[in-house]
Amino acid sequence: MKTDSLEIIDLRSDTVTKPCSAMRDAMARAEVGDDMVAEDPTVNRLQTEVASYFGFEEALFVPSGTMSNQIAIKTHTQPGDEILCDETSHIYTWEAGGPALLSGATCRTLHAPGGIIGLDHLAGKIRPANQHYVSTRMVIVENTHNRGGGCVHPIEGFRELRDWTRKNNLILHCDGARIWNAIVASGVGPKEWASQLDSLSVCFSKGLGAPVGSALLGSREFINRARKFRKIFGGAMRQAGILAAGALHAFQNNIERLKEDHANASKLAKIIQQTPGLELEYPNPTTNLVWFKVKPDFATGDQFLAALKKEGVLVSQTGPQICRAVTHLDFPASKIPDFEKAIQQAVKIVGDMWK
Ligand SMILES: Cc1ncc(COP(=O)(O)O)c(C=O)c1O
Repeated sequence: MKTDSLEIIDLRSDTVTKPCSAMRDAMARAEVGDDMVAEDPTVNRLQTEVASYFGFEEALFVPSGTMSNQIAIKTHTQPGDEILCDETSHIYTWEAGGPALLSGATCRTLHAPGGIIGLDHLAGKIRPANQHYVSTRMVIVENTHNRGGGCVHPIEGFRELRDWTRKNNLILHCDGARIWNAIVASGVGPKEWASQLDSLSVCFSKGLGAPVGSALLGSREFINRARKFRKIFGGAMRQAGILAAGALHAFQNNIERLKEDHANASKLAKIIQQTPGLELEYPNPTTNLVWFKVKPDFATGDQFLAALKKEGVLVSQTGPQICRAVTHLDFPASKIPDFEKAIQQAVKIVGDMWK
């Protein structure tokens, strides 16, 4: 992005990336067919490759991560069921009440630091079978957990959750919009994560850099039922292979390079940590999300972000003082000095406001 002569550094999200020319070529050349009748060869190939990578029986290509999570909830629950999830989870906080609207399901939120739900958070949370209560049906985890500083769940914790949910006849779903970052940061392979889960949602349009697309993964029986809800929710498309080709290119080329985003995020975190007036929310980010606070005695988030924007850097804001910078495919390490300079200048601009 460019305004006047200033080259903008856009760190609002890893969703702001633009397809590179190789991805655009792959999309332009994609073999296509009618995916409503499962005849799009590129969609079919993407679904087969991604299912096999995670060791699930099947995958279903859908337009967005939100739709993928909501189809999972709809497929797993009945109206009047309850979901256990962290209070800062995407499905609860940023999907506009989808579980209530689309599935008639309630969410019981847990307070799990960093969004890392453990057995201690779940203890006593299953409702008794009694006419007064909703029926506890599923647990949803998010890996990496966005509002938890992009932290990775410990795999041992995933195993405990699987055992506990199975023992209690509950479903375990993972919002894995950034599961790729968890795989690369932890060194724990895709099948190891997936084998603990009943279903998994993954996004190609975050760190992997595709313009559109997510996939829902699970057993053949689950995906067959989910397909009907994809249709009802308006997500069944026709020559969707053009989109799937972008997702396939992202999946085949852009997983390992996430390491660079993680290293860049660590460097941004260090810069932020050394900046007076700013404070990291999560001191040592291990993936690509850097959450930080503008200290209230220094400035409001609005004031600081406006000054930063003048210096050509965009970050996002989710509360009066809370900000997030996200590294991605279109932010090379060579831009880090520019980021540092912009932060220093923005601090000076805000400081001068009080003179
Ligand atoms: C953790 C998480 N889950 C799900 C989503 C939803 O994805 P989409 O924007 O494709 O609906 C996002 C979006 O940023 C996310 O961060």
